[in-house]
Amino acid sequence: MVRRIKKVAIVFGTRPEAIKMAPVIKELKKYSQIELLVIVTAQHRELLDQVLDLFEITPDYDLDIMESKQKLETITTKILAELSTILAAEDPDLILVHGDTTTTFASALAAFYQQIPIGHIEAGLRTHDKYNPFPEEMNRHLSDVLADLYFAPTEKAKNNLLREGVAAENIFVTGNTVIDALKDIFTTDHKFKEASLNSLNFEGNKVVLLTVHRRENIGQPLFNICRAVKEIIAKTERVKVICPVHPNPEIKKIITAELKASTSVYLIEPLAYQDFINLLGRVSLVLTDSGGVQEEASVLGKPLLVLREKTERPEVVNSGLAKLVGCTSSLIVDESIKLLKQQAQDFLFESKNLYGQGKSAVQIAEILSSYF
Ligand code: UD1
Ligand code: UDP
Repeated sequence: MVRRIKKVAIVFGTRPEAIKMAPVIKELKKYSQIELLVIVTAQHRELLDQVLDLFEITPDYDLDIMESKQKLETITTKILAELSTILAAEDPDLILVHGDTTTTFASALAAFYQQIPIGHIEAGLRTHDKYNPFPEEMNRHLSDVLADLYFAPTEKAKNNLLREGVAAENIFVTGNTVIDALKDIFTTDHKFKEASLNSLNFEGNKVVLLTVHRRENIGQPLFNICRAVKEIIAKTERVKVICPVHPNPEIKKIITAELKASTSVYLIEPLAYQDFINLLGRVSLVLTDSGGVQEEASVLGKPLLVLREKTERPEVVNSGLAKLVGCTSSLIVDESIKLLKQQAQDFLFESKNLYGQGKSAVQIAEILSSYF
């Protein structure tokens, strides 16, 4: 018998996936012919819960897999085993995964083993370097090999998929749902929950936002980044560096050891999303190895230095807002000082609509409803 109501299982596990899936959940809930099943792997725990609370998402299933210093193998095998049981019991008509985390890949693989069609949101991003970023480049590539429907954020991402032999009729260029989330939450008169940010003088200081978490940056690259931060502070007047420290113990250890002593550095807990993007909207410069932060900084018109060797988001670099500097201290210092000087001279960095107008989730939901 053909089911009239179609069951869609949305699976995610980390902070950025949750932020980018939240608008999709909101839109799909409007369709009476779609039954939505929200499954979280909780590859992240606290970071995920912050976002679930904000967007008032109550998962139907929570695999609760996170461990301290977790290994890629454990994340993958736990998800594969536990999600498979749920998929077998629920028998969804489609599974939706997002981006390039190990949750994304393991969930796609679990769905494939049960021959459940897979929709991949934020499909087609590539650096074409297997180990950069690691393991995300392979996670997204392998997820795209397994997928059936592709929601590519940009034409460049679509072209990557076409080059890999994906049929054009299965690719939809939708923009990135992070813009939907940001536009939903960003306000011009935000009062920060993090008290230290309310007393910060954004006009009288040059405020720099630093975020780091990539596995390939743990070790010497992160030491180099910290050295660069100290040098920027030493060479520039009135610089304040805000760093919401990622809870990964290996990141925390290095950042705390290297930067705790500086009175110009604010090492704070990961910020709630509304605090984070409203902070991003007010800073002078962003130093980051994040993917999502690049997209958000571009729509807010913030200059940024990408602390990576390769990027899967060439749109931001090509727009002139971002520069790829890797983790070489001298380059980070020189480029930061240049950009901070431009800011001091009121050099205008313009907001860029590289990832859509904030209607990506509406499009994805419409495409899915006609797919059924
Ligand atoms: C993961 C993703 C990465 C994504 C990032 C977004 C993989 C392999 N990595 O990287 O693609 O860009 O999320 O932030 O999929 N931890 C906590 N609490 C939390 C979250 C993490 O304590 O809420 C600690 C745990 O000790 C955990 C460690 O951080 O073992 C690393 O978490 P993990 O998800 O493996 O890697 P991320 O670097 O967060
Ligand atoms: N973010 C947040 N609080 C923070 C730091 C980041 O809410 O303290 C948000 C940020 O706005 C972006 C996402 O987390 O949407 C990016 O996550 P991350 O850098 O961890 O992952 P990536 O995008 O690199 O996968």
